[in-house]
Amino acid sequence: MKRRNLILGMTGLAAASALLLRPQDKGGPYPPYFSALNQELRRNGPGRPLLLIDKDRLLANCHKVKAQLPASKAFRIVAKSLPSLPLLQTVMDVMDSKRLMVFHQPHLNAIAEAMPASDLLLGKPMPVNAAAQFYRALKNTAFNPALQLQWLIDTPERLREYQQLATSLGTRLRISIELDVGLHRGGVASPEALKPLLDIMAGDKEHLELAGFMGYDAHVGKIPSIIETRAHSFEKACAHYRNCQQALYAWQPEMAQKALVFNGGGSPTLRLHKADSPVNEVASGSCLVKPTDFDLDLLADLEPAAFIATPVLKVLEGTTIPGIEGTRRLFSLLNPNAERSYFIYGGLWQAHYESPPGLFDNSLYGKSSNQAIVNSSHNVPLHVNDQIFMRPTQSERVLLEFGDLAVISNGRLAGWWPVLPT
Ligand SMILES: Cc1ncc(COP(=O)(O)O)c(C=O)c1O
Repeated sequence: MKRRNLILGMTGLAAASALLLRPQDKGGPYPPYFSALNQELRRNGPGRPLLLIDKDRLLANCHKVKAQLPASKAFRIVAKSLPSLPLLQTVMDVMDSKRLMVFHQPHLNAIAEAMPASDLLLGKPMPVNAAAQFYRALKNTAFNPALQLQWLIDTPERLREYQQLATSLGTRLRISIELDVGLHRGGVASPEALKPLLDIMAGDKEHLELAGFMGYDAHVGKIPSIIETRAHSFEKACAHYRNCQQALYAWQPEMAQKALVFNGGGSPTLRLHKADSPVNEVASGSCLVKPTDFDLDLLADLEPAAFIATPVLKVLEGTTIPGIEGTRRLFSLLNPNAERSYFIYGGLWQAHYESPPGLFDNSLYGKSSNQAIVNSSHNVPLHVNDQIFMRPTQSERVLLEFGDLAVISNGRLAGWWPVLPT
């Protein structure tokens, strides 16, 4: 065969296989829910990227979680995952809970000021300087940290630092001990390791008081089941929790008379904590707005309630890459989902495209947080000023990136909720 024929043959073969491997057209119109939101934002939106909270869905999620919660367990709301005072207040009202878990000193002060009746537990052991800063900045005397706040402690060294702080402030600190129930990001990994912490507290009752334990079980369900099943990880986590409780009561029997807080769980394991689990409260937040990381079988009945909405600025045919302009039609030939390019307001959020269906990033063109490129087929009927909707992968950071949260109720813009300070 002549060289020219060989090249032609191979090119033909490559083109045929590219056409055979051509992805399916994934494009389509908005479903009714997003079509209505798009119309509303076209009419009444401020014309910039927004973080929408669908209040109706949020409330429905709260009711479902509450209905399934065993009567023996309280619900502690994870503030970092719902980082807005009005959002937290809304959830506190429906869940009938004043208990919040807090992870950031500016959040701690903001919540103590605005919600002086709240009951706060730290979700991570804070540097003692952050604790000192909390007391320095605290203005609202209606919030009494000696009764309403539990600091989280992981080691005897940190407990000694907090003891010094309490001494210098002339106050008593309530202490929750972090248990390592299998996540292995610190905390008490054996019942014996509890003893030094309990001894320090027993030796200085004027400044330190045990408030309870916190054991976060986020690893449960994340380990490949060939290594360890979800049920087994959960059982091991509960066993460690129980062993620590038994050790505590064995060393300090008087603790059995106290109303200690035994915190555990998180959105992924919330539904595993049935009445007989060792904790008396579960902490959750994310599942109530359900970012994509929480698309889990145990949370299947909950609906996504947080979306990014951002306007389409430009609609262009094909994708033209600078320097290789001649390939413009090639991309659409190889992939119908690249028939159109949109440039949107903003981009690069930790989120996945949600609506309309069939939107894709174009990694060849490049990324932008100012005007990102999005591709779709001709079956996506998007025009300039229409909205692209995305679902955040997680809520704790993404919800803080848009200014006030836009509250949606009955498909209409219904208010604005300021976010917590960063
Ligand atoms: C200590 C602790 N408890 C509970 C949670 C669960 O929060 P969420 O339900 O928002 O995932 C977290 C999340 O990071 C955590 O760190």
